[in-house]
Amino acid sequence: MGMNSGKRNGVLCGRGTTALWLALRAIQRRDGPGEVIVPDLLCSTALEGALLAGFTPVFADVLSRRFTLSPESVAELVTPYTRAVLVAHLFGHGADIASIRAAAPGIPLIEDAVQGLGGSVQDQPIGSLSDISFISYDAHKMIGGRGGVVFFEDETLLEGIEEDIRRLPELPEFPLDQLKTLLPPTAASVYASQLRTVAPTLLRRFDSSRANVNRIQADWETLQARIVDRNAKAYWLQDQLSGLPLELPEMRAGDAIWRYTITVSTVAAARRIMRDLQLAGLPGSGLYYPLSQFFGQKKHRLTNRLVNLWVDESIIEEHLRCTVDVIKNVLR
Ligand SMILES: Cc1ncc(COP(=O)(O)O)c(C=O)c1O
Repeated sequence: MGMNSGKRNGVLCGRGTTALWLALRAIQRRDGPGEVIVPDLLCSTALEGALLAGFTPVFADVLSRRFTLSPESVAELVTPYTRAVLVAHLFGHGADIASIRAAAPGIPLIEDAVQGLGGSVQDQPIGSLSDISFISYDAHKMIGGRGGVVFFEDETLLEGIEEDIRRLPELPEFPLDQLKTLLPPTAASVYASQLRTVAPTLLRRFDSSRANVNRIQADWETLQARIVDRNAKAYWLQDQLSGLPLELPEMRAGDAIWRYTITVSTVAAARRIMRDLQLAGLPGSGLYYPLSQFFGQKKHRLTNRLVNLWVDESIIEEHLRCTVDVIKNVLR
């Protein structure tokens, strides 16, 4: 449906997390169990999808101002057990796929195209740059409705993926021993039981109701126009916020901005900006809390210093102006 992913196969499922789970299960059937390198800054349901697929996540650092995987960090984490690298185009910034591929030679890349959908990297559409990719249909993402799609080139993966979907919601046994490498034994078993509880909401079939399909199709048609509008708002913010004591994202041609994300120099200032945005009735968020910190690993340098600003169609010029005023006021 819709995307020119450059891949032969696309399979619909209930959400992006299910699509990632399907992708990883397919790799596991073909290449065996092991580790998946994931960006430390990522939606936590993606991590849960990886755990439910039986993979041990290994958290790689992300680049400042781009928020995508650091190729150097990936290179340091590759082991004989690495089965895949999950590459996310976070906040709509295209990841540097060529350098990541070079950092993990011969290892399949899975592209999380959820937040970069409609964008490109060196003129190649996001979602077409890797061995397997996936997207999510969700009211808060680039395309509404609800669902997910996994795209892949290797035809031999198709049968297993379709079989996995047919079996949902009956869930396979989860080999959750890998949690013991991340958490003390008691915490691991508590987390495992929580994962089993949420699994039916994370692993779902596609809702093929007319209303859902119509919504998805309609949003595909307006995607490119909406990206032009999002990017224009992001560039306007970039212009207005330049010169302030904060780190602005590095915008590149091909980015399709989902959330315009600034890095504030202190946690306190980030909190004040969030509070003042909220008081002014403006949207803002602090995505993401680094995944490694859920497991008590080393504190990430970006923790609690990111502020995501909305640039979607609900945001009008006045919202953008007020947002800039709030930020200037806090940093003054
Ligand atoms: C980057 C990223 N990957 C994966 C997902 C999971 O998608 P879904 O909510 O459709 O399961 C999300 C959703 O928030 C996301 O933002």
